Amino acid sequence: MKHRLRVPTRLGRVFANTFIPYCTVTFLPVPVFAATPNRVTSIFEPLSTPAQAIYEISLLVLAICAAIFLVVAGMLAYTIIRFRRRPGDEGREPPQVYGSNQIELAWTVVPILIVFVLILATARAIYDVQGAIPPADAINVTVVGHQWWWEIHYPKLGIVTANELHVPVSESSKRRPSFLRLESADVAHSFWVPQLAGKTDLIPNRENRMWIEPTQPGTYIGNCAEYCGLQHARMLLRVIAHAPADFETWVAAQQMPPVEDAQTQAGHNVFFSTSCINCHAIRETKANGKFGPDLTHLMSRQTLGAGVIANTEENLRAWVRDPQHIKPGALMPNMQLTNDELDQVVAYLLTLK
Ligand code: CUA
Repeated sequence: MKHRLRVPTRLGRVFANTFIPYCTVTFLPVPVFAATPNRVTSIFEPLSTPAQAIYEISLLVLAICAAIFLVVAGMLAYTIIRFRRRPGDEGREPPQVYGSNQIELAWTVVPILIVFVLILATARAIYDVQGAIPPADAINVTVVGHQWWWEIHYPKLGIVTANELHVPVSESSKRRPSFLRLESADVAHSFWVPQLAGKTDLIPNRENRMWIEPTQPGTYIGNCAEYCGLQHARMLLRVIAHAPADFETWVAAQQMPPVEDAQTQAGHNVFFSTSCINCHAIRETKANGKFGPDLTHLMSRQTLGAGVIANTEENLRAWVRDPQHIKPGALMPNMQLTNDELDQVVAYLLTLK
């Protein structure tokens, strides 16, 4: 069953407005990094349509659970205090009462009704999120999970990148959600950017789908959320949401072929004469490996090693010299390059902007 994209329900907004202050103060140690709101990896600060739907349903569930807790704990506290042992009680049993149709009926029917409300509200949120149909100008992206990095393809745009998913923001005048096809090259991973959507697993030999629709430009931090081996915790993910014009600029830059630079010919030769090219691709060259990230626009990325270190010249050199030192178990080996070769290769890689 499919239906059109829809915004969060009025019921949801009422709940959000009523319970945000309550839940935030009462239950949740929400990190408040006010200056960089988009770096908060919390489901309680949603900035995307599916995340908003999940947020609203979680507030409803939390509110109902809190009410149940208050009723049960209140009755328990009342009973403990009201019927506590008093002087002169010694040895006397309290009155023994067996069976009460009214009470038994109440504690059967009320929970059934509560569960029924939760089922209906949850089913509606799932239907809203999973049944959404992509609009004509939606961005289509294929995300492939690897141990331990993210391969990212834009089939319509002819772009391949890694660990950073660039999307346009959705504006109320023009909605541009991004629909993701999720696959895995090895084991099960899970795509999770808490501010943008719920988790969805990437399963070998299976295709899962999800969508995001950021409403504010910025960098959203995510992580693999399914244990996938030694470096699972260092399989970070960034979603960079651009204003529409900035997104077009990014697309145009990524579609450019690499620029030949005679100055770095030595590094080029080292790169293309070693097994680098068995694992990495650089567009329009004979490097077409598929095991590691595409390097065509390597230097346009913020990090190396799927978020492990910032992408600076110094870090790039350290990474190429010995990836195992930085990310033990990563599938990229130490290539045993000499210092000169290292300098040359890094100079070449720096031209891949
Ligand atoms: Cu990939 Cu955990």
